[in-house]
Amino acid sequence: MPSIQRGVRGGVITGWGVALPDRVVTNDDLARTIDTSDEWIRERTGIQERRIGGSTASLSVASGRAAIEHAGVDPASIDVLVLATTTPDQTVPATSATVQHQLGLRCGAFDVNAACSGFTYALVVAHGLLATGAQRALVIGTDTLSRITDWNDRGTAILFADGSGAVVLEAVDGPGQLLGWDIDADGSLVYLLDCDLGGHLRMDGREVFRRAVRIMVDSAEKSLKHAGVTADEIALVVPHQANIRIIEAACSRLGIPMERAVSTIHRTGNTSSASIPIALGDALENGRVHDGDLLLLVGFGAGMTAASAVLRWGGTAE
Ligand code: ACO
Repeated sequence: MPSIQRGVRGGVITGWGVALPDRVVTNDDLARTIDTSDEWIRERTGIQERRIGGSTASLSVASGRAAIEHAGVDPASIDVLVLATTTPDQTVPATSATVQHQLGLRCGAFDVNAACSGFTYALVVAHGLLATGAQRALVIGTDTLSRITDWNDRGTAILFADGSGAVVLEAVDGPGQLLGWDIDADGSLVYLLDCDLGGHLRMDGREVFRRAVRIMVDSAEKSLKHAGVTADEIALVVPHQANIRIIEAACSRLGIPMERAVSTIHRTGNTSSASIPIALGDALENGRVHDGDLLLLVGFGAGMTAASAVLRWGGTAE
């Protein structure tokens, strides 16, 4: 059992992993069954193709295993698993229970549902657990939105997809990587994007778009303030991948050039809780993150939720 430590305890990310389904669905594939075109989808969203398939548990096990191997830790030494998902495999039990067993973990496991803001919410929650005594956390963001997408609705079918990303977070004495964070929700806006049990996603896309930019910028500004840094000090923005135009508009309002933003949406579509850890993994694999860099994770989602975090990359576990 983790023991409660006095004083400040932070966390550092020591491993990461990404899992995407093998099956690629292109815009042209969609245009065969719904009234849309490759050109329209690229121009309005930045999406060229997306990955579809798998279950939330199977994708989580794949990304979680990769993150554990990358961190070089014993699965049995992980103290807690937090799985962010808005598409659990069953209503009961939490999908994290299946993932915990299949990864050989012996620890508490629970799901967090904050839609597309879920991974950042889960990362903040995991930091709280490290601060109160846990030594190692596995934080996974996974969604299989293809299972709740109405494939006849061109307003949503062009956007949503499946995927997973994970990180291992280890405790350190001192503040660790997380310098500032913000989590938020405005439940008066649930009607903009929802899905009944057993139903399909319904979305007022234009209204979500209109509000998304302001919500992301507001959240980012709170995290920057909390961290005591300015937007021009941010080396890399890791945004939720909902629409390239939303990312461009949010970066522009924050005064951060697009060269300093990660974008994977062209090949992944919107994978909800998975999109930020997938983008983070992509940036790390491509050598875009260096020790000492300030990263800004920021997203929004159904609820309407928002979450952001400022991390200073680097450091080693105790
Ligand atoms: N193909 C072709 N034409 C289309 C399509 C399509 N797939 N969809 C809409 N159109 C048409 C419309 O009918 C409309 O035609 P009209 O001018 O003749 O009326 C025209 O294109 C423009 O429609 P808009 O809805 O204004 O298009 P917009 O530029 O807003 O793009 C989109 C639509 C892509 C849905 C955009 O609004 C968007 O990305 N919204 C945000 C969605 C989002 O981020 N959701 C995720 C939230 S996170 C989570 O929790 C899952």
